Amino acid sequence: MESVLFRLLKEVYIMGIRLKNKVAVITGAAEGIGKATATLFAEEGAKVIILDKQMLGSNVADEIVDLGGTATFIKTDISQEEEVKQAMTNIEREYGRIDILVNNAAVFVLKGLDATVEEWHQSLNVNIIGTSLCTRYASEVMKKHGGGSIVNLGSISSFIAQPEFLPYSTTKAAIVNMTRCMALELAPYGIRVNCVCPGTIRTQAIDRHLANIGITEEQFLAQEAPLHILNRIGKPQEVAFAILFLASEEASFITATSLMVDGGYIAR
Ligand SMILES: NC(=O)c1ccc[n+]([C@@H]2O[C@H](COP(=O)([O-])OP(=O)(O)OC[C@H]3O[C@@H](n4cnc5c(N)ncnc54)[C@H](O)[C@@H]3O)[C@@H](O)[C@H]2O)c1
Repeated sequence: MESVLFRLLKEVYIMGIRLKNKVAVITGAAEGIGKATATLFAEEGAKVIILDKQMLGSNVADEIVDLGGTATFIKTDISQEEEVKQAMTNIEREYGRIDILVNNAAVFVLKGLDATVEEWHQSLNVNIIGTSLCTRYASEVMKKHGGGSIVNLGSISSFIAQPEFLPYSTTKAAIVNMTRCMALELAPYGIRVNCVCPGTIRTQAIDRHLANIGITEEQFLAQEAPLHILNRIGKPQEVAFAILFLASEEASFITATSLMVDGGYIAR
């Protein structure tokens, strides 16, 4: 028998209206910002498809379904063209359409000029080419069904220099102009393309960064928080809400733009 809490949660999901019955593909949603976005989209009534190279994405889909939402996981490496093409084909066959794509998956190659050719390729292959492949094959489906909305993930690193961020920043700067180029190309088909640029957000990527540079969370927060004029780092849900806005019909006259979600980081 359903518990009262379960029924209440189900009610909330059913009441979600912003993305009611929209088919939303979110890359890199096994954790972090992508997971928060997948969960929020499901709460807003979307049918969520998680593409991630980690099987952990399957647990996120299960959690959403347990809460009364609709979610599926397809194990996909977004840098592999055949895998991306196959995933989008399967989604079209299963759901009949794709309304929203969130290009969230990325790798963080945090190096300077000492980055190896292999590391450069990894950064470019996932963050730039992977984003482009997902957009290409998802937009081909969107075109057939009257349009859609695409949200890319940039960063404060798209605009500023940070020590040892060269390959990562390069890709994130590219995402801002890729967003404009894609928006121009896809506008005739009723597809909007925008970008969300977060400041420092508390995700597993930050945990890995701390382990790599060998400092404690306290030390990291002491130096990182004051860089944001709100004097703290952000939460994944705070980025998810901005992605939701740009993906939704509420942003129907917004395309080719980049929205900072950075607690004021780049204002000074
Ligand atoms: N966390 C931050 O401080 C921050 C700041 C600015 C921008 N961003 C951007 O937000 C996005 C999400 O960041 P996050 O912190 O949640 O990262 P994360 O590392 O916690 O999660 C990234 C996800 O992408 C997946 N992924 C990586 N390579 C993949 C591939 N080839 N194919 C499929 N999936 C792949 C990973 O498995 C993981 O689930 C990224 O685009 C990142 O650049 C993050």
